[in-house]
Amino acid sequence: MKEFIISVKAKDCIDLPDKLNLILKEVEKNNKVLIIKNFLTNSQINCILEETKKVLSKMRPGKKDYSKLCSNFYHMEKNTKDDDQKRINNNEPLRPRNQRVFKLLPWHDYNNKFINLIKKISVFRNQIGKRNKNYGLDINQGYFNFVQVIQYQPDLGYISKHNDKHFYDRYKISSPFEMLVMLSTRGKEYHKGGLFVEINSKKIDLEKLIKKGDIVVYNVKNNHGVEKIAEKNSTTNYGPRKNSKLLNGRISLLVTPYLISKTLNKKSIDPSKFKSWIH
Ligand SMILES: [Fe+2]
Repeated sequence: MKEFIISVKAKDCIDLPDKLNLILKEVEKNNKVLIIKNFLTNSQINCILEETKKVLSKMRPGKKDYSKLCSNFYHMEKNTKDDDQKRINNNEPLRPRNQRVFKLLPWHDYNNKFINLIKKISVFRNQIGKRNKNYGLDINQGYFNFVQVIQYQPDLGYISKHNDKHFYDRYKISSPFEMLVMLSTRGKEYHKGGLFVEINSKKIDLEKLIKKGDIVVYNVKNNHGVEKIAEKNSTTNYGPRKNSKLLNGRISLLVTPYLISKTLNKKSIDPSKFKSWIH
């Protein structure tokens, strides 16, 4: 398995673009997975979890309309019949899943610590994707940062094997690398399941190599997924809790640059409304 992984400490690559570029070349050329160890501290992780808990405690689940610059929200993401049909029509593979997704939107107000963290993650992501440093931070470049915290609840959460090359093509995302920030650890917050990737038809359990604060970078063209998450003692006594207000199980963070023209309407693109990590 080691032959598919490159693991680097954050402090050994974060401000060393030449070194990082060399590592990325190796990742791309030999189709490897990159793990950046200790990118976030515990206090930074807690800052993101606190912001997420606010959405969970204050809001009811339900999707909102981004183009109206809506408030932060969360919703359950599952594959519906419509979703399956759309994928069949587009010649894309189905993507069965059950995940709770929290959307932390850039027109919302946040404290400085949170804003600086998203900037830090975003700048690093841009470096990984060989993009302009301010992609997602400067909306004049056509993209905004879409911050999503993804929870796989115990005995409920999973995403079956899939790849995201269609999504990346559709949204014209320039880099094939997805960057996932881990906010929980198998063996602590949950005990079974987690991220896997398939390389050369070999299924690799990535979860045993990562812990909270680490970053995983993988090529979205490779099949990947999350095996169903479970706690140590299976919850057969009370079953999975769909409407739980607990931010438990497996938590990770995605900060993806989204194309403004495909996500928001023209009226809502007013830079003064983007209060947070835009500069
Ligand atoms: Fe994916």
